[in-house]
Amino acid sequence: MLCLGVETSCDETGLALVRGRRVLARQLASQADVHALFGGVVPEIASREHYRVLPRLFDRLMRTAEAGPYTVQDLDVIAVARGPGLLGALLVGLGFAKGLALGAPRARLVGVDHLHAHLLTAELEQDFAYPAIGVLVSGGHTHLVLMRSPLDFTVLGRTLDDAAGEAFDKAAKSLNLPYPGGRLMDALAQLAEPDQDMFPRPYLDNQNLDFSFSGLKTAAALAVREQPELRFDSMDVSSDPESAVLEQGRRCPELARFCASFTYSVADTLRVKTERALTYLEKGFAGVEKLDEPVRTLTASGGVAANSAVRSMLARLAAQHAMELRLPPLDLCADNGVMIAWAGAAIAESGWAHSLELEAIPRGRRIPWDYTHFPG
Ligand code: KG4
Ligand code: ZN
Repeated sequence: MLCLGVETSCDETGLALVRGRRVLARQLASQADVHALFGGVVPEIASREHYRVLPRLFDRLMRTAEAGPYTVQDLDVIAVARGPGLLGALLVGLGFAKGLALGAPRARLVGVDHLHAHLLTAELEQDFAYPAIGVLVSGGHTHLVLMRSPLDFTVLGRTLDDAAGEAFDKAAKSLNLPYPGGRLMDALAQLAEPDQDMFPRPYLDNQNLDFSFSGLKTAAALAVREQPELRFDSMDVSSDPESAVLEQGRRCPELARFCASFTYSVADTLRVKTERALTYLEKGFAGVEKLDEPVRTLTASGGVAANSAVRSMLARLAAQHAMELRLPPLDLCADNGVMIAWAGAAIAESGWAHSLELEAIPRGRRIPWDYTHFPG
């Protein structure tokens, strides 16, 4: 089954061709530099950039793919991220995928839930046992998910306000680091040991599995206001931001300590809620149905799953609870076309597909299971 994946839900344009477990080609165009000028993603610009780069990325993908070149007629599945995401950006991807589907009568069109695709990424290259618990931590989402099978997911908890990546980016903004600052804070955090009491571990004093990171963002902003020397001197995004930021971190150990402490606070909050979810699943509690077998795998995805402290925390957690740890490679944690192609193939293989009526679902709306079944 030759499956094309199209990802345009936020500020990365991603395309990939996948056959079985083999990635034949992938293309990614990041718009981060464009949005950095505005300190965050500008939805209108994101849509226009997707629209501008998609045709040439697609052409390059099909020409350079392993055992290619391929044409649209070779495609069995056209998988496209249908939400949640920025509506205009999603519509560009959907329009492109539907146009291709019209020229590829053999291919099935499959709209993919972007969050579902993130959580299936680790399955692509490794054996993966179910049931699994998935920690989805990106710029737009923070979800704890019970994964019973590749197509059977239950959300156990989610953020009530900011996502984990958003908290990183906003704390980074307080430090005057270029957008998106999560990766830069991670690099700075490597230079110091965390002060575990510098920041609160937010929203733990309850019994639920939801998150709330907005207070942490405020705590970071207040800390910077009290210590203005922590602020990065220049915001020249045209130069190499990582080297410049690291140099400042070496000159100012308090800056590195701030980042290590903030990162600790996010990672440890994720740990507490994930452990709590495991307990609830074992016993059945607070609306969480008891599982009749142990959770066998711990996985994570989304940009923040590339964070060093988060990855070490997950490794410790998996070892303590006798779970296999399955993490995507660093370059597949953030948005990409491979994960959409892989999830689309799993859905199509189970006999599900969409018609050309497939709709985009913006952030905040539930993704419906509105596939048509094609038996056999
Ligand atoms: O999954 P993703 O590419 O996009 C969304 O679907 O949102 O995640 C992007 C987010 C940004 O907030 C970025 O700052 C954060 O992931 N991020 C990181 C790291 N790498 C990316 N946050 C902390 N540490 C990192 N190493
Ligand atoms: Zn994402």
